[in-house]
This record gives sequence, C-alpha cells and structure tokens, in this order.
Amino acid sequence: MSELDYKGKVCVTGAAGFVASWLIKRLLLSGYHVTGTVRDPGDNGKVGHLWKLAGAKERLRLVKADLMVEGSFDAAIMGCHGVFHTASPVLGLPKSDPKSEILQPAIDGTLNVLRSCKKNPSLKRVVLTSSSSTIRARDDFDPHVPLDESSWSCEELCERLKIWYVLSKTLAEKAAWKFCEENKIDLITILPSFVVGPSLPPLLCSTASDILGLLKGETEKFQWHGRMGYVHIDDVASSHILLYENESAKGRYICSSRVVDNDELAAILLAQYPTLPIPKRFEKLERAYYELDVSKLRGLGMKFRSIEEMFDDCVQSLTKQGYISL
Ligand SMILES: NC(=O)c1ccc[n+]([C@@H]2O[C@H](COP(=O)([O-])OP(=O)(O)OC[C@H]3O[C@@H](n4cnc5c(N)ncnc54)[C@H](OP(=O)(O)O)[C@@H]3O)[C@@H](O)[C@H]2O)c1
Repeated sequence: MSELDYKGKVCVTGAAGFVASWLIKRLLLSGYHVTGTVRDPGDNGKVGHLWKLAGAKERLRLVKADLMVEGSFDAAIMGCHGVFHTASPVLGLPKSDPKSEILQPAIDGTLNVLRSCKKNPSLKRVVLTSSSSTIRARDDFDPHVPLDESSWSCEELCERLKIWYVLSKTLAEKAAWKFCEENKIDLITILPSFVVGPSLPPLLCSTASDILGLLKGETEKFQWHGRMGYVHIDDVASSHILLYENESAKGRYICSSRVVDNDELAAILLAQYPTLPIPKRFEKLERAYYELDVSKLRGLGMKFRSIEEMFDDCVQSLTKQGYISL
C-alpha cells in the first residue's frame, strides 16, 4: 500500500463481535490502521477470525479492555483519530440482574469509553453503534408517519415491558450525547435495525442465533418481534465508515433496509428456501404498525441491500459453517 492510501488510525471496541468484525474487515480493506479492543486478546476461539482478515497482520492490533474497568480503553484509544464504539451487551434476557448484566456495561461502559476519548488529543470523531430500538419502543406515535431520528423510545414503557436491552441502548445513547455535548466531542450515532448476514465469528452472537432459530423452525423470538426492520451487515459496516468519513454528517442516523411483519418475512424466506422448516404463520400480536424513515442516511449516498440479498448471504454462510443444510 502506498503512503497515499494511508487512512489514519481508528479504534473499534468489542472487536470480536458480529458487527465489529465486519466493520474491521471493511476498515482494513479501506486502508485504516485498526486497534480493536477485546476482553481477552489471547482467546483464539474468539479472535482467530480477525487475524485471517486481509491486512490484519500489517494493520490490526488487539488490546485488552473491559467496559466495566475504569480507564481500561485509554491505551487503545490514545493516538487514534476515530473511535467506533460497538461494545455493548446484546442479550435476549439477563440471567438474574438486568442492571449489572446489561444496563451498567452499556451506559457506564459508554461513558468509560468516552472519558478515554476525551483524554486523546488526536481524536476527530466518535461513531457510536446505537440501535433502531432506541426510537421505536413507544406507544404514542402516528403509524402513518414513518419514525425518524427525532423519535426516542419511552423509558417507562421499556421498564414496564422489561425490555432491558432497548432501555440500555436508549440510556447509553442519551448519556453519550450529553457527555459529548458537554465535552465538545464530535459524536455521530448509527441506529441499525436487526442485522442480518454472514457471521465472521464462528460462534453466533445472540441475533445471528435468532436467525438460525427461525430458519430451523423456531417461532418464539420472531413471534415476539412482530414487526421489524432488517439490514445487511455489510451495509451496517459501510454506513459506519461513511458516517466517520463524511464531514457533513451530524447527529443520529437510522440504518435499515425494510420493515416487515413476521408473516411477510416468513413468506419471503419460504419462497427462497422451500426445503427449510421456516414457520408458515405467527400468532397475531398487538404490535403497532411503523415504518422507518431512512432518508437521512440515503441522503449521504447510502444504498441498502434487499431482505432477499441479506438472507441469501446469511443462509449461504450458515450452510458453509455447517449450521444448516439446504
Ligand atoms: N445485531 C444486531 O441486530 C444489532 C442491531 C442494532 C444494533 N446493534 C449493536 O451493535 C453492537 C454490536 O452488537 P453485535 O450484534 O455485534 O453483538 P455481539 O457479537 O454480541 O457483540 C457485542 C460485543 O460487545 C462486547 N462486550 C459486551 N460486554 C462487554 C464488556 N463488559 N466489556 C467489553 N466488551 C463487552 C462483546 O465482547 P465479548 O466478545 O467479549 O463478549 C462483543 O464483542 C451493539 O452495540 C449492539 O447493540 C446490533
């Protein structure tokens, strides 16, 4: 690579995760020097796939950091121009205590990362991976008007429904905005809907396991979703980089291809994969109709792949990894 291709140094937190691994793949392909944080850089089962990425040997380093250890991200972030903060607990249900298992690592962990950012004089921009769940958990919106970035999920409703992941993402993003405004840090937040695509980590994360469950005929998880937006993992990675690089980017950005009801998703998948035991019908639940307005990210030039494409790439990869056979 010539000097001209040098893109600068960036840090990605939670490097071994589903989204982060794909983001690192794209960052390395674009010419960035990447410092990834993981809880255990010596755990080859978790980080081995990262070392196989093109450019990793020359331009990737992995550093140990934990969201719950104050100052833990200082070394990884110092000297980086950009920070992509993706690390956050993504759990369906907590084992016993939502506060210590989900809320604290998400909220206090985000502030911990941002305090390290504040100490770094080279920092230009932070891109925080939030979630479209931070805008749609409400019961007071007009279903005829697509939800946009001005919408915030209702904290009381999240507590009442015990949707701790949604509450954690909502409170973490709000805390990040407050901290960055007070400390004059250039922050962009990206709000992906349900991410679908090939998993680079060999062990499937919570959402990738949900997709596998659906393809194997389980209804429970998707039954509960009712209606959901979906987005290709490669589009999520590219959007992170677009938002980091585009100087005019500002504020929050929903990142989603299409919102569909469960029955609609099942019909698309059944037509594509007639040999898989995909559930034909889901019980109708009282779920509000909504659409997501993605014009802000599209306005920066982002084009999203279709549901058919994201599931095709996902199914191919699950087949290759031996999780399913067509
Ligand atoms: N997947 C989706 O559909 C989706 C949709 C919207 C937004 N997002 C957001 O995307 C981000 C990545 O999620 P993902 O789907 O890629 O899930 P994932 O594979 O489970 O990644 C989560 C990452 O967070 C790290 N992490 C959790 N607790 C930590 C702690 N205490 N200290 C340090 N690291 C910690 C995990 O590290 P370990 O590997 O050590 O556990 C893992 O690398 C999250 O912020 C999530 O909210 C995901």
